[in-house]
Amino acid sequence: SSIHSFLQALPKVEHHMHIEGALSPSLIFKLAAKNGIELPKDDSAFSSVESLVERYKHFTSLDDFLHYYYIGMSVLLSAGDFEALAWDYFQHAAADGVVHAELFYDPQAHTSRGVSYSTIVSGISAARKRAESEFGITTELICCFLRHLPVSDSLMAFDSSEIQASFKDGSVIGIGLDSTELDKPPHLWKELYAKAATQELNLTAHAGEEGPAEYITDALASLHISRIDHGVHLIDDPELMASVAKEGIMLTVCPISNVVLKCFPSIKDVPIRKFLDAGVRFSINSDDPAYFGGYILDNYCAVDDAFQLSAEEWKSVCRAAIEGSWCSEERKAELL
Ligand code: ADE
Ligand code: ZN
Repeated sequence: SSIHSFLQALPKVEHHMHIEGALSPSLIFKLAAKNGIELPKDDSAFSSVESLVERYKHFTSLDDFLHYYYIGMSVLLSAGDFEALAWDYFQHAAADGVVHAELFYDPQAHTSRGVSYSTIVSGISAARKRAESEFGITTELICCFLRHLPVSDSLMAFDSSEIQASFKDGSVIGIGLDSTELDKPPHLWKELYAKAATQELNLTAHAGEEGPAEYITDALASLHISRIDHGVHLIDDPELMASVAKEGIMLTVCPISNVVLKCFPSIKDVPIRKFLDAGVRFSINSDDPAYFGGYILDNYCAVDDAFQLSAEEWKSVCRAAIEGSWCSEERKAELL
């Protein structure tokens, strides 16, 4: 349809995209076979590609999804595996009209399995170079720390010489905080974020996805983040919403993810129109597209279906996404 081609052609920037969330069921089975990794035998979801796809349609919560997300990524061993994963994503991104992507990755979920940090980053980097030369898509990396693990683990990972080197050579431009949200208030990671701030890294954190608006307040006050990942529960605190709008802090909203993980009953319930009316800046993102059945353009289309944004509103959403990016000022000027 014409609206689909209009949305496809918009210069899209993606800020909330876990590269491990681009791991498709077919690539899980292919890499498991290649690497000799046994998928769980006691869970019939792993009987076939089809049964896994079917199981993904019935997530009951963030943690229910995360269980499958961590099993899935256990098939990634070599740099070539990470390259194949990232390349799969970039092909979707190119087809969807993405011009710039800031990608999350979860190093602790790999180093804990004996995969070295340099394997992860070198594999992703190879795909990033190819995406830039073949598709003109520029990319940045954001190193995420896992909230279901002890805080001391994230501090140790952050201080490791390999992660530090990737910050210093500019291959990684910021940090994030993800995984289980409930009962893991952001202030527990205050020391990690204070250290990152002294290194002039960009700071973001998942907050207000399953967790309450108080976690957004907490993340802003204790971690001094400049973006909020998800942040949709901002809608429950009008005063905080006004201050986020005034400060120009951007939410990286993932509408299909919110519905699939049961944060909201339908796309219509994701507060997109309310954020527009309140002047809250946000970008629209795919989160874990291979698990949630939709890449970034599917998210744009779902939002348009539910809220019928005008062409001017869509252009301003895309402009805000470019302005809220952490790419170079030169690249930003090119995109605007
Ligand atoms: N890791 C991958 N996807 C995530 C999400 N939606 N929330 C928290 N952690 C995640
Ligand atoms: Zn996420």
